[in-house]
Amino acid sequence: MSKVHAIYPGTFDPPTNGHLDLIARGAKIVEHLTVAILRNSTKGEPLFTTAERVEMLTEETRQFGNVSVATFDGLLVDFARQEKADAVLRGIRAISDYEYEFQMAMMNRKLAPELETIFMMPAEKYTYVSSRLIKGVYRLGGDVSDLVPQRVVDRLRSKVEKDAQGPGVENPL
Ligand code: PNS
Repeated sequence: MSKVHAIYPGTFDPPTNGHLDLIARGAKIVEHLTVAILRNSTKGEPLFTTAERVEMLTEETRQFGNVSVATFDGLLVDFARQEKADAVLRGIRAISDYEYEFQMAMMNRKLAPELETIFMMPAEKYTYVSSRLIKGVYRLGGDVSDLVPQRVVDRLRSKVEKDAQGPGVENPL
């Protein structure tokens, strides 16, 4: 097995079956995979706290002997250096992901030339799945049970029920 230590960074709000599919594929080709949750996302207020996302990813990756879960703040390259990682793993679902991923990979290479980016494709059945769509569809009553783990469905249920008791939310889609 390769000695590569890769970091799979993301927001994971919440983790989806697409993320888990990529983790399984990544774990097969590297020695160790660190799933790294960004704490200070610029995407706005997350639905799940960092601690909840750590719990969900830890539960769902327990089956892998070479996957750990961590959180980071600030630049990914700084975290990668701190962890002595060799590579960053990212998923490409469709051509529309490519431009942003390419820019990010090139910026990371500029900042840390020793760090490689590995792109992998999730299973075809997950190519349209994103955390943003999962939250939106679930909030509007759609069935997402084939697209996220059951434990995530359960957590979405209790989150959204709690939200419903608070001020009304705008249509998220
Ligand atoms: O799941 P996401 O939201 O697509 O993940 C994006 C993430 C966390 C990989 C990206 O925003 C990131 O690495 N942020 C850390 C800040 C950073 O290093 N920015 C420079 C890279 S362009």
